[in-house]
Amino acid sequence: MKILVTGAAGFIASHVADAYVNAGHDVVILDDLSRGSRRNLNPKSRFYQCDIRDREGIEKIFLLERPEIINHHAAQMDVRRGVREPLFDAQVNILGSLNLIEAAVAQGAKRFIYAATAGAGYGEPKQMPVPEGYPINPITPYGISKHTIEHYLFTFRFLYGLEYVVLRYGNVYGPRQSSQGEAGVFAIFSEQMLAGIQPVIYGDGKKIRDYVYISDVVAANIAALERGSNEIFNIGSGVETADFEVFQIVRHLLGEQVEPKYVARRPGEIDNICLDISKAKSLLQWEPRVNLSEGASMTVAYFKQVAARKDTSAVHARP
Ligand SMILES: NC(=O)c1ccc[n+]([C@@H]2O[C@H](COP(=O)([O-])OP(=O)(O)OC[C@H]3O[C@@H](n4cnc5c(N)ncnc54)[C@H](O)[C@@H]3O)[C@@H](O)[C@H]2O)c1
Repeated sequence: MKILVTGAAGFIASHVADAYVNAGHDVVILDDLSRGSRRNLNPKSRFYQCDIRDREGIEKIFLLERPEIINHHAAQMDVRRGVREPLFDAQVNILGSLNLIEAAVAQGAKRFIYAATAGAGYGEPKQMPVPEGYPINPITPYGISKHTIEHYLFTFRFLYGLEYVVLRYGNVYGPRQSSQGEAGVFAIFSEQMLAGIQPVIYGDGKKIRDYVYISDVVAANIAALERGSNEIFNIGSGVETADFEVFQIVRHLLGEQVEPKYVARRPGEIDNICLDISKAKSLLQWEPRVNLSEGASMTVAYFKQVAARKDTSAVHARP
């Protein structure tokens, strides 16, 4: 199948594009390289450097390539930038995504797979684990913009028959992650410890998150090619992990003795989130296979390798 993957110069979608290429699909990548790196681009894919806000550019690419499936990961995904610049956040995450959805409909694409967010969408949940039906109460512009596209997909399905699958990720981690993003604590702690910088924990270290390893997220994107039509899925581990536990795991794997520096929490951060993943298990026939200690070992080994190359620009390089 011909699949257009957006954001595949970045962390998650570069792994998804690799898996699609390895499965024999014809992969087209669209990314503006605002955050991702050329080094992450799969050499067997065709790459278009384009901003998803560029409607004409998007239309041209769709006319030329006519993808059957769109896998949409490109986003303004810096939560704090969204707080500072809500208009920019909406322009990329809402209007940019709409450009893609409209082009998909115009060119008769079959399916639209959308990378959404669980942590930034549910707000501060009163119930854990949180199921997909839990009320959406974002406390940041990023949470609003990412969720809004779920409504458009639902509506466009009714209006034009475009099939969709929404994957609401927990905190994804693994090789190629940037320390600048929504959920990069493994990357942040690893980079800081390897550089001899005292790691910073925002808050008291007890905030709970749901970590899911990159290969499990990739498996969900593969399952979504065939299953889960017109459904929304939480994609996480269903396991509660505190910030301080992540710190301890990384510290242990790097053989460091350092203590964290605790600083005030940042606006827009929730206390606790852990996802109910039973729907993905039954309808997508997907479940996470990599536990936190295995995933942490592979992730920290990657950042060690990058640091050993002493090439800071290689943080996003293909392993
Ligand atoms: N990392 C996580 O834990 C997490 C959690 C929930 C949801 N998500 C979602 O998954 C997706 C990918 O996240 P990631 O962690 O791989 O981020 P990333 O920053 O590594 O990748 C995003 C990619 O999108 C590209 N991009 C940004 N703005 C663009 C634009 N206007 N036009 C074209 N390309 C643009 C960037 O250059 C980058 O390569 C995002 O949609 C994000 O909201 C991520």
